[in-house]
Amino acid sequence: MSFYKFGDYENVSSKVIKEIQINLIDWYMKNHRKLPWRENQNPYYIWISEVMLQQTRVETVIPYFLNFINKFPNIKALANANEEDVLKAWEGLGYYSRAKNLHRGAKMICDEFLGLIPKNQKEIQKIIGIGPYTAGAILSIAYDQPVPAVDGNVMRVFSRLFYIKEDIGANKTRKEMERLGEVLVSRENPSFFNQALMELGAMICIPKNPKCIACPLFSQCMGRKLGVQHTLPIKNKKIKKREVNLEVALLWNENKFFIVKRSSQGLLANLWALPSVEREKNIEEGKTIILELEENYGMIVEKEKFLFQKEHIFTHLKWNMKVYLYKLIKSSIVEYPENGWIDKEEIEKYTFPTAFMKILKEIKKLV
Ligand code: ADE
Repeated sequence: MSFYKFGDYENVSSKVIKEIQINLIDWYMKNHRKLPWRENQNPYYIWISEVMLQQTRVETVIPYFLNFINKFPNIKALANANEEDVLKAWEGLGYYSRAKNLHRGAKMICDEFLGLIPKNQKEIQKIIGIGPYTAGAILSIAYDQPVPAVDGNVMRVFSRLFYIKEDIGANKTRKEMERLGEVLVSRENPSFFNQALMELGAMICIPKNPKCIACPLFSQCMGRKLGVQHTLPIKNKKIKKREVNLEVALLWNENKFFIVKRSSQGLLANLWALPSVEREKNIEEGKTIILELEENYGMIVEKEKFLFQKEHIFTHLKWNMKVYLYKLIKSSIVEYPENGWIDKEEIEKYTFPTAFMKILKEIKKLV
């Protein structure tokens, strides 16, 4: 058995490459799941599905994908939609910058590329939100081009197949993996080859207890031959998430409650929420948000009581949200930042991110 030095994948023998290609494509043709974005090679569908599938599971994505292409059937329809409607179609999927970038990307494609997703690697990556992975997926799956599409799942497959012990979180490793993907990708059927790698990562070469017995690359896999497949890939520990203590106001008045639109910059930009603010230390609990409501909206409010606590985890951040009930003493009318009073039946009309949906669900139980 011979090993490849890290970065030396150009020397993988052409016999091994051919075996990997044939076994993978053959396995894919017999075993792949029927998924709505696999029914044809429409590049718009591939783009939407790949963006939705980043950080989200296939089963979750399916209904969102079907609803999205129903509402926005092509690039032009998406480009002409208003952002509020695009965000509404994304509600609950999380990582909302993905939706905003799809929308902006569609406008760019219409304005600068005659409404067609570009067919080469350099041009396609000029579209906002399209990086090396999404570019590779669209070019190979929709346009049959032999380019790599390497995401976390594919890096896991490669780490095991070639016994790669580098940290897959490092940029250098990802670049090497892309080089490896370029060497391996089938020239005859790049679309099936890349989808087969993704499918293998999802169905067989799974993070825990990989199903090596059923794997089409059983004979080629160095990790399996050495019995170390469970220990790969190597991923160095993430830095601890920053914890933020957030005060959230349920400001209730005549059967309605107060909502605000978040700023156009930063986390969960432009989405609707309950008034919230990071708690300032050395101030009594539930007071920071009182000051915020007065400063931003001219509202004078009085704390009634603490209601409940919820948490929400983002990629780099953990929110500990404490929700308090407030009584309105004096209101004033402020146009900006956008705000409004709604009753619980109107919640559906607005796009609330999951963190606030958790709170609203709890409030619905209380009223
Ligand atoms: N994960 C990422 N891309 C995928 C695809 N096209 N099909 C299934 N799972 C995926």
